[in-house]
Amino acid sequence: MKGDKVLLLVGSPRGMASTSNSLGEHLLLKLEENGMAIKKLLLYPALADEKKMAELLAAIEACHLLVIAFPLYVDHLPAPLIDLLRQVAERRPARQGEARQSLAAIVNCGFPETRHCRPAGEIMRLFAVQAGFRFLGCLALGMGGAIGNRPLAKAGFIVRHQLKGLGQAAGFLAAGKEIPVAVIELAGKPMMPRWFYNWVADRGWKSAAKKHGSSGRLLDAPYAGEQQS
Ligand SMILES: Cc1cc2nc3c(=O)[nH]c(=O)nc-3n(C[C@H](O)[C@H](O)[C@H](O)COP(=O)(O)O)c2cc1C
Repeated sequence: MKGDKVLLLVGSPRGMASTSNSLGEHLLLKLEENGMAIKKLLLYPALADEKKMAELLAAIEACHLLVIAFPLYVDHLPAPLIDLLRQVAERRPARQGEARQSLAAIVNCGFPETRHCRPAGEIMRLFAVQAGFRFLGCLALGMGGAIGNRPLAKAGFIVRHQLKGLGQAAGFLAAGKEIPVAVIELAGKPMMPRWFYNWVADRGWKSAAKKHGSSGRLLDAPYAGEQQS
């Protein structure tokens, strides 16, 4: 709603240089255009700073809409984000009645397929239910590495679906409505053909290996002989 407070929480250790930040920041700007009062906080600098963490927890309690943007780590949420959500849930035991605050999420992953993000979106939904937030949806996308730390609006033609999807999502969120499935699907569309993303990613891995003197060891499988327990 107009004038309502939205808090963007960036849950990537890469902070301002992350794809999570680029996606979240774009949504935040669109929410501002829709009349919402915006604020952004980064999770990682708060982890080692009690004052910052207290500020973050207070900001979560004070907002009308919480947007959490994060990378997929091992098919899940980054561990410090899980810890934070646990803390938030513990501070909000047995919330009764209609939820006054809403939650939306944005997750991006490094594999080309958006579907890897589905379990993380479901985890966010369950968190929202248990902590007494109204869940308005989780936007998800693969090929996150193609955005990097660029502002989304400067990432060019490849992010056309994401720009449109985030813009449309902002309209629904600002009206206090769930993000429709069609908008989630639009934002999750591939940015380029899968073979091309894989080819560029492979080149990146190979040049990193060269830099670290391990080009000859790329096919090593050190755990291949270990017994499964
Ligand atoms: C520790 C770690 C675990 C990861 N696990 C996955 C994974 O399970 N699936 C995947 O598709 N990408 C995985 N990635 C890749 C990130 O999701 C991807 O690079 C993402 O774009 C990073 O977003 P950020 O810039 O917002 O941090 C992982 C990256 C790291 C560093």
